[in-house]
Amino acid sequence: MAEPHRLELRDVRAAERRVRERLHRTPLLTCTALDRLAGRRLLFKCELFQKTGSFKIRGALNAVRSLVEGSGRAGGELPRAVVTHSSGNHGQALACAAQAEGIPAYIVVPHTAPHCKQAAIRAYGATLVLCEPSDESRAETAARVVRETGGVMVHPNQEPAVIAGQGTIALEVLEQAPEVNAVVVPVGGGGMVAGIAVAIKALRPDVKVFAAEPCNADDCYQSKLRGELTPSLDPRETIADAVRTNIGPNTWPIIRDLVDDVLTVSEEEIKRATRLVWERMKLLIEPTAGVGVAAALSERFQAFPRDLEHVCIVLCGGNVDLSSLTWLTEGPGTAE
Ligand SMILES: Cc1ncc(COP(=O)(O)O)c(C=O)c1O
Repeated sequence: MAEPHRLELRDVRAAERRVRERLHRTPLLTCTALDRLAGRRLLFKCELFQKTGSFKIRGALNAVRSLVEGSGRAGGELPRAVVTHSSGNHGQALACAAQAEGIPAYIVVPHTAPHCKQAAIRAYGATLVLCEPSDESRAETAARVVRETGGVMVHPNQEPAVIAGQGTIALEVLEQAPEVNAVVVPVGGGGMVAGIAVAIKALRPDVKVFAAEPCNADDCYQSKLRGELTPSLDPRETIADAVRTNIGPNTWPIIRDLVDDVLTVSEEEIKRATRLVWERMKLLIEPTAGVGVAAALSERFQAFPRDLEHVCIVLCGGNVDLSSLTWLTEGPGTAE
């Protein structure tokens, strides 16, 4: 029997009630130059303006608030600590959410994570623990830290409270743009696309949900193709550092059943799309957000029916290490 989903619309609604007052309602921007390139109306959900610079605070805050509420109901004490592993953005988000509640946070980060993300985690008062850049090293190191600190693990993309928090993006988009026909969502561990898909398919099953990922880390695409969870054991390098990770046991059943399609894009397409957004929209997105833009501009997407007229792309984050952008000086001078 197929695994059940561990999340429903009511979980996303409960998350929204928990986090609404503490987060930004990010704007939905448009850009005529990009509409022309896509041949459709594009609606950019600007999560790069979200607190901590990415959508990740939605899920992290929901998880931490749920823990605090749970301990209050039980008349018990707050968790001794929260622990996670992260390519950087969830780490920042959990550190920020934990600091607000006075809970110590331990964040395991690959030593290759952008310096701006590492610095931000420290700035939120968390303890940074470096590991190797692989899913195994991240998981093993975090498990050790949980044992040593007695903290509670808040997984960056498989924790149901995190997935529910990310789903609040969809509730906002449906209110801000009821005309939307499709959403394009970068996928790493799949927490964001799974949360969004649960909310969208419950409220507006006519709206298509597309996941977007780099060809160099295409486990979500491979899983959908084979109809079973197919992790990449050794994903190649990608400029979209935040989505190099694999989808997992809680996000896979939702992606399998509720995500309409997965679009993969090359490194060149990601760079071009990222640069286009910088130059045309003046928005400092990180390359991972460029993955969604690249997917919406891709040949494959262009071939989709024209009735997918209003397409929302989640610009998921803006935590970019400006000093590391050597690729900017390679190749042609502008994005077009
Ligand atoms: C900016 C950004 N976009 C997308 C993702 C992918 O999110 P998920 O792992 O929930 O698929 C991440 C994850 O770290 C991220 O930081």
